Amino acid sequence: MTDKPIPEASFPALAALVRARRTVHEFTSEIPPRELILSALDAARWAPNHHRTEPWRFYLVGPATAEHISVLNAEIVRRKSGEAAANAKLRRWRAMPGWLAVTCGRHEDPAREREDYAACCCAVQNFLLLLWEAGVGSKWSTGKVTRETAYLAALGADPAHEFSVGIIWYGYPEVVPAQTRPALATALRELA
Ligand SMILES: Cc1cc2nc3c(=O)[nH]c(=O)nc-3n(C[C@H](O)[C@H](O)[C@H](O)COP(=O)(O)O)c2cc1C
Repeated sequence: MTDKPIPEASFPALAALVRARRTVHEFTSEIPPRELILSALDAARWAPNHHRTEPWRFYLVGPATAEHISVLNAEIVRRKSGEAAANAKLRRWRAMPGWLAVTCGRHEDPAREREDYAACCCAVQNFLLLLWEAGVGSKWSTGKVTRETAYLAALGADPAHEFSVGIIWYGYPEVVPAQTRPALATALRELA
């Protein structure tokens, strides 16, 4: 094994960023600047993607579309859990400051589609980390509504050609939740 040194400043700084990012559930009402979002997305696309398929599609969701999706979601909640739960969910979704919808291009080969989905997830993580570095928190949501045809239709996406990776809500954190991870040893096997 080489004894090349780990970069003294940049490596710990990047590791600290990866560790510090949290899924945020409570945001202030302030909406982060569009330039920040576009700049983070532009960099996030440098994620690994096998065969360079660039399978991601990003939808910067404006207020009218966010409202449409929130109502679709509330209808699902209403059917399952009733009026009060639906209204509570509607209020919560309406309070989400920034909305980005991410989809992945479909492929007839399931192995290829799986790899494309993996690439989209890499791009999303890049995006979340870049936002965090700018003080912007996020929540990746894959609620039931994101699997509905009506949701893709609200985005103007064709379900025959795209499927949902998730909604990314973003904004300035009101509360940053605490998180833990088990020791690395629980996930690591070193082989001969
Ligand atoms: C693919 C994916 C889907 C997720 N969907 C949801 C979701 O629907 N609702 C939610 O509260 N969190 C969702 N999360 C966030 C996870 O709950 C969160 O990452 C986990 O609790 C760990 O917290 P952390 O992100 O702060 O490390 C999702 C995360 C991923 C990667």
